[in-house]
Amino acid sequence: MNVLVVGAGGQIGTELIPHLQKVYGEDNIIAADLRPEIVEKLSQVSRAVMLDALDIRAYSQIVKEYKIERIYNLVALLSATGEKNPQLAWSVNMGALLNSLELAKENNCSIFTPSSIGAFGNDTPHKDTPQDTIMRPGTMYGVCKVAGELLSDYYYTRFGVDARSVRFPGIISNGCLPGGGTTDYAVEVFYDIIKKGEYTCPIPENTYMDMLYMPDALEACTQLMDADPSALVHRNSFNVTGMSFNPKQLFAAIAKRVPGAKFHYNVDPVKRDISASWPDNMDDSCAREEWGWNPKWNMESMIDDMLEAIRAKNL
Ligand code: SER
Repeated sequence: MNVLVVGAGGQIGTELIPHLQKVYGEDNIIAADLRPEIVEKLSQVSRAVMLDALDIRAYSQIVKEYKIERIYNLVALLSATGEKNPQLAWSVNMGALLNSLELAKENNCSIFTPSSIGAFGNDTPHKDTPQDTIMRPGTMYGVCKVAGELLSDYYYTRFGVDARSVRFPGIISNGCLPGGGTTDYAVEVFYDIIKKGEYTCPIPENTYMDMLYMPDALEACTQLMDADPSALVHRNSFNVTGMSFNPKQLFAAIAKRVPGAKFHYNVDPVKRDISASWPDNMDDSCAREEWGWNPKWNMESMIDDMLEAIRAKNL
């Protein structure tokens, strides 16, 4: 299967590329990104091309030239960045999705686009957030995610495009850093504790959010796309989660393993409001029932692995 990953230089893409190479064969994966220096880096590990996903002609040429059969559309500005420039977030996030869906329709590709916990808002039930519930997000990022879910389902019902997606929670990883997200604290803390022995957190200590360790997130990307379509009741998009914690709990568990680690708070009002509007913990039973979602990592095992991986970087 020929697979194109658009926006491949971000947090998910840099780890999705090697995962896809293992599953579908190294030569079948094409990594595309807008930034020349990132394409240069990607080209050391994968076939790579420069692409602005908003340029539909260039995008179309690549889909045709490489006979693409599946698109992973990872282009997005994250939640906190989106609040700094909402118009740009709309045009990038929705523009890349619309072009991806159009090209998937024209070229008979399947397509995966991540949705997010950001698709929920203050009115959503925060505990055991159901698969089908109130979705009235308060951020531009979330508005794009809800619109994106609807648009993807529209392309499926109207044109038969095989569009599928998951609502990712915060993704914790030790490859490429996330940028401009509200859940980033749960990644940054590991780097700061290893480098400096202390971390200042922008999220209030009692705010719960769902999280997922990268290996489980990668499984979601391939498992859902390879699932038997006749078993799918939902498509865009499935709740998936691996763990739920607040900063206080995460930091207590890190402190047990890193004696002397210090934690401070300097709450960012934008991130505070965003994080307060998102679920405490999602119910992901539909993903489990419809395509066998079964994450392996919990908070304790994730912390052990993150500390080991980041120590090994010798920062
Ligand atoms: N990680 C994202 C963010 O914080 C949520 O999907 O913006």
